[in-house]
Amino acid sequence: VRAQVPSAATLLDVGCGTGRHLVEFTAAGFDCVGVDASPEMLTTARARVGDTSLVEGDLRGFDLGARFDVVVCLNGTIGYMTTSADLVDAIGNLARHVGDGGLLLVEPWFAPAQWLAPMVTAESAKDGDVAVARVSRAIEEDGMGMFERLCTIATPDRTWSFTEVHRLGLYELDEYLAAFETAGLSAVHESLAPGRGLGILNGRRPPASLPS
Ligand SMILES: C[S@@+](CC[C@H](N)C(=O)[O-])C[C@H]1O[C@@H](n2cnc3c(N)ncnc32)[C@H](O)[C@@H]1O
Repeated sequence: VRAQVPSAATLLDVGCGTGRHLVEFTAAGFDCVGVDASPEMLTTARARVGDTSLVEGDLRGFDLGARFDVVVCLNGTIGYMTTSADLVDAIGNLARHVGDGGLLLVEPWFAPAQWLAPMVTAESAKDGDVAVARVSRAIEEDGMGMFERLCTIATPDRTWSFTEVHRLGLYELDEYLAAFETAGLSAVHESLAPGRGLGILNGRRPPASLPS
């Protein structure tokens, strides 16, 4: 972000989840706002981000009535747009919140060929007095990537389990780039290390033209 927009001061994180990126961006000197559709995520974020402004809203429809130097949508959140029309609407709405000369940075979800399904995974982790184990199955269903995940949590007081199901759209790089173009942004794709999905999409809004 600094390399592309050195003067950037304001940053909007859409699909901010539990606010970990907001903490980092704030520490880096940005004046931040977070948006997420999930009240539970925002409650967790609230405990983490101090007085940073948090707003409940959907990618496709939120309207803050403000534009930012930088808008980010990270960690595959855009994949929750499960139709091409929703993808275009979401990128369009993110772009509407980017000021003149600003940056829209999107970390896409997997492309169809990168979705290695069917697959099962198992993971566990422990942090202090909390231990978590989770198993997942991933399949392709109706052209979407679906994964179902069973999590079991242990603390000294109790153990409990829950299951979550996620359905995400699998789009080609070209489809993302076309959505940026439709939104009036010129987009550049940046590859990351192998295994890091589709990399990063950087969309720039041209600076306001100078008065003649
Ligand atoms: C994979 S998490 C990413 C969270 C955070 N950006 C990160 O990198 O850790 C996806 C987030 O997107 C949110 N989300 C899912 N669908 C959404 C939608 N339609 N509009 C806004 N947020 C949405 C979820 O509530 C969740 O917090």
